[in-house]
Amino acid sequence: MKLKVCVIGGAGYIGSHTVYELIRDGHEVVIIDNLSTGSRDFIHKDAKFYFGDITNKQELKNIFNIECSVKPFDVVMHFAAKLIVPESVSIPLEYYYNNVEGVRIMLEVMKDFNIKNVVFSSTAAVYGEAINPICSENDPTIPINPYGETKLASEKLIKWVCQRYDMNYCIFRYFNVAGAIDTLEIGLNKDNLTHIIPITVQTALGIRDEMTIFGNDYDTPDGTCIRDYIHVSDLADAHVLGAKYLVKNNKSLLVNLGSNKGYSVLEIIKEVEKFYPVNYKIGKRRAGDPAKLIASNDKAKEILGWLPKRNLEQIIKSDIEYRKKLNNLK
Ligand code: UFG
Repeated sequence: MKLKVCVIGGAGYIGSHTVYELIRDGHEVVIIDNLSTGSRDFIHKDAKFYFGDITNKQELKNIFNIECSVKPFDVVMHFAAKLIVPESVSIPLEYYYNNVEGVRIMLEVMKDFNIKNVVFSSTAAVYGEAINPICSENDPTIPINPYGETKLASEKLIKWVCQRYDMNYCIFRYFNVAGAIDTLEIGLNKDNLTHIIPITVQTALGIRDEMTIFGNDYDTPDGTCIRDYIHVSDLADAHVLGAKYLVKNNKSLLVNLGSNKGYSVLEIIKEVEKFYPVNYKIGKRRAGDPAKLIASNDKAKEILGWLPKRNLEQIIKSDIEYRKKLNNLK
């Protein structure tokens, strides 16, 4: 099955890895990206690229006009969201505008062009403070930060629109994503990194002098927050499976993408310290952080046949190799 896929946000971290995986699997890819956090260097040479912003309906319509007059998209994938939890607490209006209004406009244009399938990047942040040790898709969704709220609002919007206009959605709730493609061509490369694995690796490699653990007084065994980590290429694989599922089955699904395992911030540091020492200090809690988030991936396995192939050590090694390459370190 060869699909024509529109990847909105395909020049960003997760979007670009998904584009690489789609192309490797033989699909035709059209990328739309405003390059606000993405980069031209991340655009696969075999993908078609349009500079465009999904909060600009006319711009989006123009691109769909050109592309769909040749061959309509089988699937649209959405990665064009702002996703930094503490940033969402400080600029909630921008988060709602970009994340929710962007999705609304995308859906409107999809409806106008009669495009039936959407794959949407949601987040574990929709669960808020998880009530079960391992979250399953039916757990209550009570976000505790604006980022999670915007993703939950988008999920609901997508569900209602798909119901009304006979469309299908594949909503993925991601847990903490890290690592880089095996060839190291692309990876997470931004100036102001905020995520724990790249920050710990940068500290280990001497790119940063030190790092801070944001709080060690949480209700967890070592007092630091627990998260579920997943390799970006495993996530990209899931998106390809999700797109094929929609086209083949003509029905919707919502699944977690996680590993069934959690690691605390201190455990991440200890894992990196298997390779290099890490200079860290304990600081105050960061706004918007839940104590613990771990995903059950049983549903992804059952419906899509998906399981993560890489464990924490492989994720960390992958991030180390990528950062060494970026910084010309041996
Ligand atoms: N942390 C530190 N020090 C740092 C950076 C992070 O202690 O320098 C801690 C955070 O406080 C948190 C944990 O490491 O407890 C993980 O933080 P990240 O910033 O790496 O990731 P988040 O859990 O905040 O959020 C990420 C994505 C979201 C996604 C969420 C799902 O950014 O998009 O995982 O679990 F929703």
